[in-house]
Amino acid sequence: MKNIAIFGSGKGSNAENIINYFKFHDSVTIKLIVTNNKNAGIIDVAKKKKINFIVLNKTNPLLDQNILKELTTNQINLIVLAGFLLKISTIIINKFPNAIINIHPALLPKFGGKGMYGLNVHRSVLEHKEKLSGITIHFINNEYDKGKMIFQAKCVILKNDTPKLLAKRVQKLEYQFYPIIIEKILQ
Ligand code: GAR
Repeated sequence: MKNIAIFGSGKGSNAENIINYFKFHDSVTIKLIVTNNKNAGIIDVAKKKKINFIVLNKTNPLLDQNILKELTTNQINLIVLAGFLLKISTIIINKFPNAIINIHPALLPKFGGKGMYGLNVHRSVLEHKEKLSGITIHFINNEYDKGKMIFQAKCVILKNDTPKLLAKRVQKLEYQFYPIIIEKILQ
């Protein structure tokens, strides 16, 4: 059995989609959800889907030893970042070589880096008058959005696009491809 931990700071729509995808899977389980935001929608997803979750906050910060212990106890094989805003520490990265992945809502290496999150990304893509956008799934290393690329999917930018409209189109790609790529990585 392969166990996944999903880390997220926001709505949790990717987390929910991934959980649904693996619901009846023989050899993959979503074991744990980790968030740094006590008001995040991803907590509701965890509750609804009956998945253990950890809220990181001032009394329970992202301390390497604590989180490592949780990951070890839950026998986590793959950490899936889905809109997680905190930087993953080197200690955790070193303990999970090629086993932490992220999805970014644009075609890296463009429109990545610190602060490039959610609608900021789409706003920037439109301001730069790009013809294409899409998703990038990549391994995590010590720099924001710079780990080895695993997969990209593209969509065209339409004439009347707004950040919200573009976000919707890009999220469709996220829902379509993230679970499949996760499954492939675990094989
Ligand atoms: C997703 O669109 C993801 O690509 C993005 O945050 C959103 C989370 O939505 N991640 C980044 O921007 C990372 N730089 P969700 O909570 O509904 O899955």
